[in-house]
Amino acid sequence: MLRIDIFTLFPSMFEGPMTESMLWKAKDRQLLDLRLHQIRDWATDRHHTVDDTPYGGGGGMVLKPTVVVDAVESVLADAPPEPKTPVLLMSPQGQLFSHDMATWLARQPRFGIVCGHYEGIDDRVRELVITHEVSIGDYVLTGGELPAMVIVDAVIRHIPGVLGAEGGADRESHADGILEGPQYTRPAEFRGLSVPKVLLDGNHGDIERWRREEGLRRTWRQRPDLLKKAQLTDAEKYLLAKFAEEDARRG
Ligand code: ADE
Repeated sequence: MLRIDIFTLFPSMFEGPMTESMLWKAKDRQLLDLRLHQIRDWATDRHHTVDDTPYGGGGGMVLKPTVVVDAVESVLADAPPEPKTPVLLMSPQGQLFSHDMATWLARQPRFGIVCGHYEGIDDRVRELVITHEVSIGDYVLTGGELPAMVIVDAVIRHIPGVLGAEGGADRESHADGILEGPQYTRPAEFRGLSVPKVLLDGNHGDIERWRREEGLRRTWRQRPDLLKKAQLTDAEKYLLAKFAEEDARRG
């Protein structure tokens, strides 16, 4: 069972997604133990203050180190020393979240996520309790809650048994650096657009080859950056050369 501890000032933001089918199923099947912690519960003053003005001036408020560090340390106090429990800080300054990080997190017994908010977080939190600072993309959101939900969603689909009959996560886009090809269902013809014949013929070898080729074509067109790290066979390298030729001919 994977345990995830989320530290947030807005636990109610997680209510909707947490009752959504995949997450609920993972918890119901005892594959996931997801716990929400209100950071404010560790505030010690009468007003439950969690933020303060920045030293050196400037606008906005900064999350106080005392409450955040106390929250993380007290919740992780019972975690075994080995393997070291990852504690992620959601922040637009972090390393970009990826498929590889999702599968790595899914293999951990446990990890924590701290959702930053306001203008920032006292830097000593990073030094004392954070192991990885993670961004979900090059844009700025209001807080780390939505990014934390993105991480949880991307991670738990790699826990064996979570996807069940819906299929393995290994065949999907990004699993091997190549995107998935197009998919179709009935009707075979719709508004003059036909489903490719190879899919109707039922030859599994041909279908697999076709899917791989179309996935490769899609990657070439939409995400050529992914091809740099993809492991390609000679046949696939040949296909890339063919796509390049097609493009050159079209101009
Ligand atoms: N907090 C605000 N923006 C973020 C982003 N892009 N990724 C992760 N956490 C964030």
